[in-house]
Amino acid sequence: MKTNYPEEYDRGWVEFYYQHFQVNEHVLIPRFETEDLVREAIKFCRATSPDVLIDIGTGSGIIPLSILSAIDIPKVFAVDVSSEALKVAEENNRNQGKVITFLEADLLETFIKNDAQKIPENVNILIVANLPYIKNGDWENMSRDTEYEPKIALFGGEETGFELYEKLFAQIPAFLEKYHPEKLTLLAEMGDDQETFATKILAEYGWKFSFFADCFGIRRFMKIRIK
Ligand SMILES: C[S@@+](CC[C@H](N)C(=O)[O-])C[C@H]1O[C@@H](n2cnc3c(N)ncnc32)[C@H](O)[C@@H]1O
Repeated sequence: MKTNYPEEYDRGWVEFYYQHFQVNEHVLIPRFETEDLVREAIKFCRATSPDVLIDIGTGSGIIPLSILSAIDIPKVFAVDVSSEALKVAEENNRNQGKVITFLEADLLETFIKNDAQKIPENVNILIVANLPYIKNGDWENMSRDTEYEPKIALFGGEETGFELYEKLFAQIPAFLEKYHPEKLTLLAEMGDDQETFATKILAEYGWKFSFFADCFGIRRFMKIRIK
């Protein structure tokens, strides 16, 4: 038996936001705190009825599937750069039967470069993301069982770990240019030590943003009103 092997991978499923989801070594084991991102997204959807939901870095698909368990959204995309992760997400969706378009892509790139993804213009779009945000190789601050999780799901970059979010922010002007959404909001999870850094970067874009806390009172989520 492997030392510290996560029991979730052993039994092949986890409970997240009142449902069971399949997991394997190709996906992050969903964290309890991410339920708070889902709760905020559901609250947001109830208040503003988005036409399109895009989940970036979907992993096992827990975020869109949990949101859709509470509220219908006309068009839903789940994006991941890992084809193996997408297989898990699609399998989880087979059990739930929601209409979701799964895309193997680098962040928003496919929406910017391809016309195949039909997003209408002038609609209300919500993007959700729980991207990797740990600094590459920062094992010191991680529990031992994380060594079995995919590195691509954990590590966000060499310098700060926040690099993938920076790349996502940098793609947004081209996304706005292409789809002219009536409204565009991003709800995302980040590291509990990244607020100052995130503030500095987001201020440069001129977007309205705030941070909110998980159920332990730790501020680890961004709410960005881009438009
Ligand atoms: C922290 S995991 C989150 C998984 C799931 N959303 C959750 O909350 O449990 C991050 C996910 O982002 C994906 N990812 C990493 N780099 C990406 C990129 N450039 N574009 C799209 N997805 C990416 C990883 O494959 C992984 O599934």
